[in-house]
Amino acid sequence: MTLYRAHLLWSASLAEVGEVADGALVVDEAGRIMASGPFDEMAARHPGSEIRDLRPHWILPGLIDLHVHLPQYESVAMDGLELLPWLNTHIFPAEARFADASLARRAARRFFRDLLSLGTTTAVVYSTIHQEATDAAFQEAESCGIRAAIGKVMMDQNAPEALSEDTEASLQESDELIQQWHGKAHGRLMYALAPRFAPMCTPALMRGVGTLSEKTGAYIQTHLAENMDEMAWVKKLYPECANYTDVYRRHGMLNGRTLLGHGVHLDTAERAMIRAAGATIVHCPNSNAFLESGVMPLRRWLDEGLSIGLGTDVAGGPTLSMWSEMAMACTVSKLRFALLSEANATVKPVEAFHLATMAAAKGLGLEVRIGSLDKGMDADFVVVDPRLTDPAERIEDTADRVLSRLVYRADPRMVQATFVRGKQCFIQGS
Ligand code: GUN
Ligand code: ZN
Repeated sequence: MTLYRAHLLWSASLAEVGEVADGALVVDEAGRIMASGPFDEMAARHPGSEIRDLRPHWILPGLIDLHVHLPQYESVAMDGLELLPWLNTHIFPAEARFADASLARRAARRFFRDLLSLGTTTAVVYSTIHQEATDAAFQEAESCGIRAAIGKVMMDQNAPEALSEDTEASLQESDELIQQWHGKAHGRLMYALAPRFAPMCTPALMRGVGTLSEKTGAYIQTHLAENMDEMAWVKKLYPECANYTDVYRRHGMLNGRTLLGHGVHLDTAERAMIRAAGATIVHCPNSNAFLESGVMPLRRWLDEGLSIGLGTDVAGGPTLSMWSEMAMACTVSKLRFALLSEANATVKPVEAFHLATMAAAKGLGLEVRIGSLDKGMDADFVVVDPRLTDPAERIEDTADRVLSRLVYRADPRMVQATFVRGKQCFIQGS
C-alpha cells in the first residue's frame, strides 16, 4: 500500500469541485484507490504503508482525451485550410506513411509519451487504415502504461488510392485487432472502431461496424457535422437520410459506446437522436477554431443534458494538451457570448474540468473506474505543481482559483508525474 500525500482536487459535479487540503490517496498493489481523504485519518487507518509526500503539489484525476489522431501528430499546426482540403494536403499523405510499421511504432512511442507528460491518462485514438501500424500503437500503449481505446481508420469509398480499403478486409482486420486487444492489460487497452466519416464509408461498412460493436462491446468513434462542405457532401451521398446523424443511426452506428467527434452544426432532431441512443459528443474547440469549422454552443447543449466530453483532435487541434482544450472550451464560450449575446453562454474552468474527467469517463461507460479519486477506482492521477502557473507562487489557494490558473495558464513543466492504474508512467525531468 502506498499513501500519496498532497492537496487532492477532483470534479464533484458539473459545477463543483471536491478537495482535501492535506489529503492522501491510498493505492494498493493492484493500482486501485483503497481510500482517499484527510492525511491524518488515512495514515491512522493504513499503518505501515509507504508514504510518498508530494506536498506542495496537488493530485487531480488523470485527464481524458476522447478524440485524437496518432498519425497526425507530426502534421500539427499546418494553418490555412478548411477540413477537406486540409485532409488532402496535409493529413492523407502523413497517414499513408504509416504503411511503414517501424515508422508507425516510433511515432506511437513519441505520441503516448507526450500525452502522459501533459497529464492525459486515457486517450481515444484513431490510428491509420494499417493493421500493423495499429497493432504497433497498441503495443506501445501497453508498454508505456497509458489507458487507451485505439482503432484502425476504416474507409472504403472516396478515399485517396493509397488509403482505400476493401469493405470486407477492413471489417475483418478490425475484428482481428478487437480479438487481440479489446479488454487487454486488465482492461486498460480497448478497441474503438474508427469508420472515418460518412463520406468515406459505404453503407455496408457502417452496418458492419454497428454489428461488430454489438458483438464485441467495442467502442465506435467517428466524425459528425464538423464542417459545412462535409455536411453538403453527406447530404448529396445520402439523400434518403433525414440528416447527417440519421446516416449513422440507420446504419446501426449509434449506440451507448459511440463517440461522435465535433457535432458543431447539429440540429435539434439530431441531438434528440444522439440523446436517445446514449451516444457522446466529443467537443473539440481547438480544432473547430483552427480548421474554421465553427463554434459549437456548448453551454446550451450541456443544459439540454447531452453527454459531452473533450478531445484535442490533433492535428485538427494544434496541441495534445487537454489543459489547452479546457481553456479553449471556456474561451470560445465567452466569444460566443460576446458575439451573439447568447444568454448564459459561458462555460467555466470547473465545468471544462468536469468534461475532461468525470463526464468523459461516463461517456466511455467507465465512471466506476476512472475520472475521479474515489475509493474503488483505478489510480489514474496526475501530480501538478500549481506554483508554475502563478506569478505569486502561492502554495495554498482556493480550489477554484488554482484550477482556473491550471486551465488558463498551463505550464508545460507543471505536470510532475502521471500515474495510470497506480503505476508511474511519467515523471518530470525524465
Ligand atoms: N473528418 C474526417 N477525417 C477527419 C480528420 O482526420 N480530422 C478531422 N478533424 N475531421 C475529420
Ligand atoms: Zn478527428
